[in-house]
Amino acid sequence: MAGAQGSALALAVCAAGGVGSLPAAMLSPEALQAELQVLRQQAQGPWNVNFFCHPAPTADDAAEARWREALRPFYDEAGIDQASVPAGAGRVPFSHATADLVEPFAPPVVSFHFGLPAPELLARVKRWGSVVLSSATTVDEALWLQAHGADAVIAQGLEAGGHRGMFLTTELGTQLGTFALLPQVVAAVQVPVIAAGGIADAAGVRAAMALGASGVQVGTAFLCCPEASTSALHRAALMSEATRHTELTTLFSGRPARGIVNRLMRELGPLNPAAPAFPLATAAVAPLRAHFESLGRTDCTPLWSGQNTSGCRPVPAAEVLSGLARGLDSDALSPSAGSASA
Ligand SMILES: Cc1cc2nc3c(=O)[nH]c(=O)nc-3n(C[C@H](O)[C@H](O)[C@H](O)COP(=O)(O)O)c2cc1C
Repeated sequence: MAGAQGSALALAVCAAGGVGSLPAAMLSPEALQAELQVLRQQAQGPWNVNFFCHPAPTADDAAEARWREALRPFYDEAGIDQASVPAGAGRVPFSHATADLVEPFAPPVVSFHFGLPAPELLARVKRWGSVVLSSATTVDEALWLQAHGADAVIAQGLEAGGHRGMFLTTELGTQLGTFALLPQVVAAVQVPVIAAGGIADAAGVRAAMALGASGVQVGTAFLCCPEASTSALHRAALMSEATRHTELTTLFSGRPARGIVNRLMRELGPLNPAAPAFPLATAAVAPLRAHFESLGRTDCTPLWSGQNTSGCRPVPAAEVLSGLARGLDSDALSPSAGSASA
């Protein structure tokens, strides 16, 4: 979960018998290297590193100007001069340069969001021995991932927190809830299917397994664990009734992602067409986010959250994991069973 955790949560999940994930999408090369060293030295059982593999955007001055114009009331209120705000990409896709850095660590699992890297780059990841996962939000995406080399597919239902992994379409009407998507993906592909989205307790795990999942991926339920790096403001929102209203929004990055509705989403509309292509929307919002956060407010903060926050508790990740694991057969949770991923 990029921006909400590092190796500490991944290690805690691994130690408790799950497959902990390190989100790499927002890490500098130096930070990624340091985190990989920690995981290699300390992880018990298999661990996962997650990358984004979106097409790199082309800077578009006119689109950037439209976006800043849409944000003008917030800049004016915050007393920030728009001209002083640098544009920037924010998140870089997986590349050969990243692969150079990752290869010596040969992570047991590498997962991707937004499809898969180019064939030659993916072949490189597979050559060093990592099991490759990626998210599918439709049956078509699951078939595409299988055909292009994914070893297992994550069926990411509409309930999921954070970015939709969608990559064959931008049409939100194609997106399915977990328990509609999962059995159809299971029927369509031969590779194992991991269920994601809205799973927060043993009953959710049991339901996913009954619908043919080989494992589950859980994000939101780990966000309030002490091992996560979720901010205090985000934690407070996750523990409040505000979680009853989440929406998909493009305002914070340019791609749809699910978060708790806040003032920016209410006033601009969560899918405002002025938001530029992923990930270019991020830079112009960043100083606004910082300004309001300095006042203890989340007006412009992405409060990523799935629809089901009933599993969010300020308890160690091992406790969340053991609660989820009660939904598995009693012998299924072992370091090689791959039951949950933070
Ligand atoms: C705060 C947050 C950040 C996330 N960041 C990523 C990410 O960097 N890469 C990724 O593949 N998925 C990311 N996701 C999505 C999760 O991998 C997963 O699909 C989702 O959390 C499952 O649904 P749930 O949130 O209802 O448990 C994120 C989810 C959350 C809540």
